[in-house]
Amino acid sequence: MSEYLPGLAGVPATKSNISDIDGEKGILAYRGYPIEQLAAKSTFEETCMLLLDGRLPMREQLKSFDAKLRRSRRTQYHIRDLMKTFPPTGHPMEMLQTAVASLGMFYPGNECLTGGDACQDLDYIHNMTVKIISRMGTLVAMWEHIRNGYEPPEPRNDLNYAENFLWMFTGQEPDPMLARILDVCLILHAEHTINASTFAVLVNASTLASPNAVIAAAIGALSGPLHGGANQKVIEMLKEIGSPAQAEAHVDSKLKNKEVIWGMGHREYKTKDPRAKILEKMVDELIESRGGDLNPMFETARAVEKVCLDRLAKKGVYANVDFYSGILYTEMGIPADQFTAIFAIARSAGWLAHWREQLSDNRIFRPTQVYTGEPARDYVSLEKR
Ligand code: COA
Repeated sequence: MSEYLPGLAGVPATKSNISDIDGEKGILAYRGYPIEQLAAKSTFEETCMLLLDGRLPMREQLKSFDAKLRRSRRTQYHIRDLMKTFPPTGHPMEMLQTAVASLGMFYPGNECLTGGDACQDLDYIHNMTVKIISRMGTLVAMWEHIRNGYEPPEPRNDLNYAENFLWMFTGQEPDPMLARILDVCLILHAEHTINASTFAVLVNASTLASPNAVIAAAIGALSGPLHGGANQKVIEMLKEIGSPAQAEAHVDSKLKNKEVIWGMGHREYKTKDPRAKILEKMVDELIESRGGDLNPMFETARAVEKVCLDRLAKKGVYANVDFYSGILYTEMGIPADQFTAIFAIARSAGWLAHWREQLSDNRIFRPTQVYTGEPARDYVSLEKR
């Protein structure tokens, strides 16, 4: 019998050529391209194509992909009506999981997945991919208005993905610097090898479930605070700490009680997450562009990181991507409970790349277990128990 490893730590679940992490050196690359270069030079739309198709697109290919993304932003009014029936207190991730799962009913047509050439219909795969990535942003932005009792603004075709999201979310003309920061955040969150939600994608894809069902399952996995939900927890933690002066006492009391510090630690990285470094630099740039004026949470975050460096670096625990992303989202006027939903929008690109990769060489997942229950025994009737 093979050895059981809790959390499947270090156990390969698939072969993939989509992204790679060197956790010792703190390197992340999508299709071989370092994340730093993509963050500096690419766009979310281009990064989606890179993840999905495996290569950087030519100008015309990118133009056509982008045009399809823009055309797919509108959703049927029934979906808006459905969302209006959700309780306004519903968490954005619960809304998103439900709304995405419902897309299969509003836009049916995944028969090809179970047809003769199952999994090989690239047009279908491409079409569904574009539509899901595009609709994710619309759903998240719509919910912000619907839960507050307003009609959501219509999407705009003259704006790129990040700009349109900010427009739809805030109802205001997007600030170019914040739109570029969001664009980079989407690039940084788009893919990250076989984490818990991507593993959920593989398992669901392997049953030939519809892509909407696959992505809904992944959204559920991402929502947990040990995974994507940590970015919301970080801001709540920083608010609770209140000021840099309180950072040390807070961290020490959490560690004493064996509680985690949100936004710290990662299964793969044994050094600072390269995405956290890029985000931290962007916060600095934003401060500079505003003449030093920024949310005081950033100073508290820096103080928390400094204490954690002293207390946790010896365990290989450093700041992860969630540690600084929330500070930037707060500057965009996005409430903390929406942070993980924005993570999900970005990650839909990586999830769908893995969906496609799984379908290209599919075998249903069916792991085994180490049985630790009772040996075989006879049923005891109610009277004799
Ligand atoms: N705060 C305090 N201690 C932490 C920690 C954190 N955020 N992350 C890990 N550690 C400690 C563990 O307590 C453990 O200590 P021990 O060896 O004394 O028992 C050691 O570091 C190893 O951690 P482990 O829990 O085995 O790591 P993992 O790979 O199973 O878990 C995470 C990885 C991400 C789940 C974990 O680091 C965590 O809970 N982080 C906070 C949540 C978060 O930010 N998630 C977003 C990830 S992108």
